[in-house]
Amino acid sequence: MSLNSFGHLFRVATWGESHGPALGATVDGCPPGVAVDEAMIQHWLDRRKPGQNRYTTQRQEADQVEILSGVFEGKTTGTPVQLMIRNTDQRSKDYSEIAEKFRPGHADITYWQKYGIRDYRGGGRSSARETAARVAAGGLARAALAALAPEVRITGYMVQMGPHRIDRDRFDMGEVERNSFWVPDAKAAEDWAGYLDGLRKSGNSVGAVIEVVASGVPAGLGAPIYGKLDTDLAAAMMSINAVKGVEIGEGMAAAELTGEANADEIFPGNDGKPVYSSNHAGGILGGISTGQDVVVRFAVKPTSSILKPRQTITKAGQATEIITKGRHDPCVGIRAVPVGEAMMACVILDHLLLHRGQIGDAGGRIG
Ligand SMILES: Cc1cc2nc3c(=O)[nH]c(=O)nc-3n(C[C@H](O)[C@H](O)[C@H](O)COP(=O)(O)O)c2cc1C
Repeated sequence: MSLNSFGHLFRVATWGESHGPALGATVDGCPPGVAVDEAMIQHWLDRRKPGQNRYTTQRQEADQVEILSGVFEGKTTGTPVQLMIRNTDQRSKDYSEIAEKFRPGHADITYWQKYGIRDYRGGGRSSARETAARVAAGGLARAALAALAPEVRITGYMVQMGPHRIDRDRFDMGEVERNSFWVPDAKAAEDWAGYLDGLRKSGNSVGAVIEVVASGVPAGLGAPIYGKLDTDLAAAMMSINAVKGVEIGEGMAAAELTGEANADEIFPGNDGKPVYSSNHAGGILGGISTGQDVVVRFAVKPTSSILKPRQTITKAGQATEIITKGRHDPCVGIRAVPVGEAMMACVILDHLLLHRGQIGDAGGRIG
């Protein structure tokens, strides 16, 4: 199974399976001298870890990160950083009943068709356990950003669960850390709790939309045509399990706008920094950051493992029925929030390093 890496200069390869002894990320290209330790990376992993409330899978994983290489006396050395997380709560027996059946909505059938291998223990490499490795790599990327571009802030939150959207008039970032859904709207958090409880108790699940914003990103990151910042962001988000749609700025809704409404007008600002009237572009023009907030949204599909009987086939091609027991997230969107943030951190850092390499301080000045 090839192609387990992403990134150009800050290059992340993830490895490991849901029910193997451990999983992790090997990060090649992290600059030297970045202050980082296990606690700093653990902070981000704790936000993704399962079993934290009744709306996430009850699999109990400490998700404790170990740094095996690339850090000496609290600083990166510039050599590969190996991040490892041991699996501690693998219960293969939960999956033994489905070893011969393909679970609808999962990668079982396509992995079988492609590789002729069926890792029925929670999906093996296709399991969202893999996203823990991304969050660990994202923690390292955040540490590097803190050193190289300390003004960059990356925040993710849910803006939609099933048909229920947040009310942007009630938007309050302070709420995000106070509820189980990472939602910036106290009323939505209350309403969604009842909605998701109902779905969970009936053995069903639902999809969600997550928004990730990077503020403080300097103008000039990204390159035209094949190196567009938005191309890499879209690929990074789309590579997360269960993601079925990605949009930047106005996204799909841009199709409904007129050119007049969509134009982010430009005004003179202080210190040669332009001021924009709006941010329909999501902080990216021609693949290059404008200096405004970089805004990405992605949609995740409803959790496929549900207690409702579904039709499927066996490896032998026989029709059968399946109920996917075991421990599952009723809405994967909740735990996808820290994963989206991690991918944003990796991509922004990667483009910062590319920019530093090719351009340095040689950009055009306004004023
Ligand atoms: C954080 C996170 C947690 C997930 N948890 C579950 C889960 O508990 N049960 C499930 O059926 N799918 C879960 N998924 C989704 C599956 O991993 C994913 O749908 C599956 O691997 C098939 O890949 P695809 O949906 O990208 O095609 C989760 C996804 C993410 C991002």
